[in-house]
Amino acid sequence: MFFHNLLTATALAAVASAKHLYVSSYSGNVTTLSLTQTPHANANSSSDSNYTLTTLSSNNACAPNASFLTIDRIHQNLFCVNEGIVNPNGSLVSFKISPNSGELTKINSAITPAAPVNSVLYTPPHNGTSKQLLAVAHYAWGLTTYTVDPDTANFTLTQSFNFTQAKAGPNAARQAAPHPHQVILDPTKKFLLLPDLGSDLVRVFHINSSTLTLTARPSIPVAPGSGPRHGVFQTVHNGTSGGAKHYFFLVTELANTITSYDVHYQPFDAGLELFPRTSMKTYGNHSEPVFAGNAAAEIALVCDRELVVSNRNASFYHIANPDPRNATEVPSDTLATFRIGAGAQEGRFSFGELSPAGGSFPRQFSVDGGEDLVAVGLQNSGLVVIYARDKATGRLGREVLASVEVEGAVTSVVWGE
Ligand SMILES: *[C@@H]1O[C@H](CO)[C@@H](O)[C@H](O)[C@H]1NC(C)=O
Ligand SMILES: *[C@@H]1O[C@H](CO)[C@@H](O)[C@H](O)[C@H]1NC(C)=O
Ligand SMILES: *[C@@H]1O[C@H](CO)[C@@H](O)[C@H](O)[C@H]1NC(C)=O
Ligand SMILES: *[C@@H]1O[C@H](CO)[C@@H](O)[C@H](O)[C@H]1NC(C)=O
Ligand SMILES: *[C@@H]1O[C@H](CO)[C@@H](O)[C@H](O)[C@H]1NC(C)=O
Ligand SMILES: *[C@@H]1O[C@H](CO)[C@@H](O)[C@H](O)[C@H]1NC(C)=O
Ligand SMILES: *[C@@H]1O[C@H](CO)[C@@H](O)[C@H](O)[C@H]1NC(C)=O
Ligand SMILES: *[C@@H]1O[C@H](CO)[C@@H](O)[C@H](O)[C@H]1NC(C)=O
Ligand SMILES: *[C@@H]1O[C@H](CO)[C@@H](O)[C@H](O)[C@H]1NC(C)=O
Ligand SMILES: *[C@@H]1O[C@H](CO)[C@@H](O)[C@H](O)[C@H]1NC(C)=O
Ligand SMILES: *[C@@H]1O[C@H](CO)[C@@H](O)[C@H](O)[C@H]1NC(C)=O
Ligand SMILES: *[C@@H]1O[C@H](CO)[C@@H](O)[C@H](O)[C@H]1NC(C)=O
Repeated sequence: MFFHNLLTATALAAVASAKHLYVSSYSGNVTTLSLTQTPHANANSSSDSNYTLTTLSSNNACAPNASFLTIDRIHQNLFCVNEGIVNPNGSLVSFKISPNSGELTKINSAITPAAPVNSVLYTPPHNGTSKQLLAVAHYAWGLTTYTVDPDTANFTLTQSFNFTQAKAGPNAARQAAPHPHQVILDPTKKFLLLPDLGSDLVRVFHINSSTLTLTARPSIPVAPGSGPRHGVFQTVHNGTSGGAKHYFFLVTELANTITSYDVHYQPFDAGLELFPRTSMKTYGNHSEPVFAGNAAAEIALVCDRELVVSNRNASFYHIANPDPRNATEVPSDTLATFRIGAGAQEGRFSFGELSPAGGSFPRQFSVDGGEDLVAVGLQNSGLVVIYARDKATGRLGREVLASVEVEGAVTSVVWGE
């Protein structure tokens, strides 16, 4: 989809452009949305536009409980996991995305171990072949991998790892068993990291660079009872030496913290170590929310130097009702921004601010390729909302640019672009 560069907007005529988004929800449907942007005359920024979010089509192959989407934009493939909340098994479904319409055609569907909630694609580190695998984190089981044919989007099961833990963690209700919540590819493409909410571990797997098969490496313990959920890497290149340093930022769901770590790779791919730097609450310097069950969820690195984190069940705001005819304001949870340091402050970060998330339970959000729009998936509101992001300041918008209702609890939203 063509998208205007909004920072050179003096040349902008009031020409509409559109982008697709894909949304998963616990209703089981994966929905294709279109975000249409009509710039105002003399528009200078993404907020100087009218936006409209509309539903184009939906596909129920990822029923009953679609929980996460991973997109391969190069091959126009979409992978959906169904958490199968009331079933002993989940499923994995692959789709081809139709050019122009964004319509989804199911390619393959397979039963999986219980409760898949997240996935990531990975390829060889220094290899131009089309070999590709998808790793899937199962909240109630462990890790599976699938070999993918990127041209067809077909896949076959390759490896399975059932995780165990010796005893319940400090939060007995949530930590009686391992609960891997995400699978993250490291910047060297040599390791997969899995924050495990039940075990208070970041589990580590080494990727064989030619076969792409996985071997477990020592897990990294984090604060007991914190419940690690999602993380993101930052790489800082040293222009002088040509080298690079890596940092990892981890969000915990039970303690509502964000912690940065220096990443040290051990010799002979033996594993990696994480050395903590900054740690703070995910709502920054705001006083502890009184809302029961505040649960930080998603984290993203934006413009290589900023972090955005979503806080669920912490309704600091009341915002305009998504129904423009209804004058009653609705509670809104928050997005939190953090600024990563440079130079002597590398690997450390400071709090920016909170802003509204657009409704209740921002389980997941995605920043667009231009890094000036944020799409938020609101699980309890059944909404996708779009906010502007100011590229100069990193601040997120206060006013919803566009929103659309999606049937069921929204679990993830990704940009098609
Ligand atoms: C933007 O929306 C406003 C309010 O609905 C409308 O008055 C205006 O004409 C729209 N502008 C464009 C460029 O579509
Ligand atoms: C955009 O910038 C130009 C030049 O600075 C200014 O004349 C114009 O009013 C701005 N447009 C808007 C919508 O703010
Ligand atoms: C869900 O998708 C199916 C098509 O796969 C469609 O028939 C149904 O209307 C969709 N439901 C909603 C609420 O969009
Ligand atoms: C999961 O899917 C089932 C079957 O459609 C549905 O009854 C249930 O409400 C869904 N779970 C959630 C949390 O939405
Ligand atoms: C489905 O779940 C059952 C029970 O946990 C498990 O034994 C079986 O291996 C699962 N099937 C697949 C294909 O993963
Ligand atoms: C996908 O792969 C499976 C297993 O290799 C095969 O049985 C099936 O026919 C393939 N499906 C398509 C659409 O190519
Ligand atoms: C996973 O491993 C544990 C411990 O070995 C075992 O009790 C459990 O049945 C296994 N689960 C599955 C689904 O295979
Ligand atoms: C990767 O797998 C190949 C084939 O099994 C094996 O020969 C090689 O030693 C493995 N590399 C590492 C680093 O384990
Ligand atoms: C890339 O990986 C494939 C699959 O392991 C292997 O057959 C091929 O030789 C590798 N190519 C290069 C250039 O390393
Ligand atoms: C970059 O590398 C050079 C040469 O190794 C080193 O002197 C310098 O301290 C490094 N800079 C940073 C910011 O790490
Ligand atoms: C207006 O919004 C409030 C809050 O969401 C809701 O409780 C109420 O039912 C709505 N009123 C109408 C007429 O839809
Ligand atoms: C909280 O942090 C913000 C941003 O760093 C700062 O502007 C504000 O003064 C701080 N408030 C308190 C009470 O410390």
